[in-house]
Amino acid sequence: MSLDSKVILNMISKNLEVTLHGKKIDTANILSVSDAKTIRDNKLKRNIYANIVIITGVTGQDGSHMVDYLLEHTDAIIFGGVRRLSVYNHSNLSHISSDRFFLVNFDLTDSHSIGQFIEKMRPDYFINFAAQSFVASSWDFPRQTWETNCTAVLDILEAIRLYRPSCRFYNAGSSEEFGNVSYSPQDETHPLKPRSPYGASKAAARQIVKVYRDSYNLYAIQSWLFNHEGTRRGEEFVTRLRFLFSVSRRVSICASNVASWTCTFSSRLVAL
Ligand SMILES: NC(=O)c1ccc[n+]([C@@H]2O[C@H](COP(=O)([O-])OP(=O)(O)OC[C@H]3O[C@@H](n4cnc5c(N)ncnc54)[C@H](O)[C@@H]3O)[C@@H](O)[C@H]2O)c1
Repeated sequence: MSLDSKVILNMISKNLEVTLHGKKIDTANILSVSDAKTIRDNKLKRNIYANIVIITGVTGQDGSHMVDYLLEHTDAIIFGGVRRLSVYNHSNLSHISSDRFFLVNFDLTDSHSIGQFIEKMRPDYFINFAAQSFVASSWDFPRQTWETNCTAVLDILEAIRLYRPSCRFYNAGSSEEFGNVSYSPQDETHPLKPRSPYGASKAAARQIVKVYRDSYNLYAIQSWLFNHEGTRRGEEFVTRLRFLFSVSRRVSICASNVASWTCTFSSRLVAL
């Protein structure tokens, strides 16, 4: 157990407010599933009952926005599944300070970790934003893309079926599932014709979500997300570079600081 976890659990046993994020989040704040379960159980014991929500991909763009949204609009207790990395990658979460949000050590490519997470936490909602989300990388790492984006979805569904069938499951799909499109804009009746390992992995995940929904009567859905951008997206995405470019251009005009931004422009343009 990490020192931070001990402090947190001590505070809970003394019935004090849990302020895990009273300070900036860093890797030291990532809990084991057992510690997270203790926090969950203690909150429930103290009659702080609220929906238990697991969100994956919280260090990414959409997951971090979902955390913000749920903290603001619900009283849910949120457990964010994150991979422990030796480099700091929590900048999208560093603004959050809440006693309803906890990070838990988790990797989508480990079916055992998925099973444990769901069995111990018994979530009411499981929101899966984690993915190998970079289409270009899916050509370099097709198997890893498949395991993260598709096999892991099967593992989550299976764990929900076994341990928490009342849990509502959401999976992020992609317009890349449509691939070679027949018409625009696409709708739900458009055939799935993926053209990349990424698109194929999301299309296959969609099929298994449907099979589990139909066969086991689970509440399991997958959306189609079209490209969307913000300042929290990784800069490796081409569209993100375009976004940054347009933001830089606007900022530079506003600030009349053309000289410094010109350098940014040219480097972004080269990258485009
Ligand atoms: N942003 C878009 O335009 C867009 C479009 C279509 C679909 N999507 C899908 O929506 C979801 C969210 O997109 P995003 O832009 O926030 O992506 P993102 O790349 O910003 O975030 C992905 C997250 O997944 C995590 N992750 C990756 N592999 C993992 C693993 N093995 N175990 C645990 N965590 C892992 C990363 O650490 C990161 O936090 C993804 O499933 C993506 O494929 C996004």
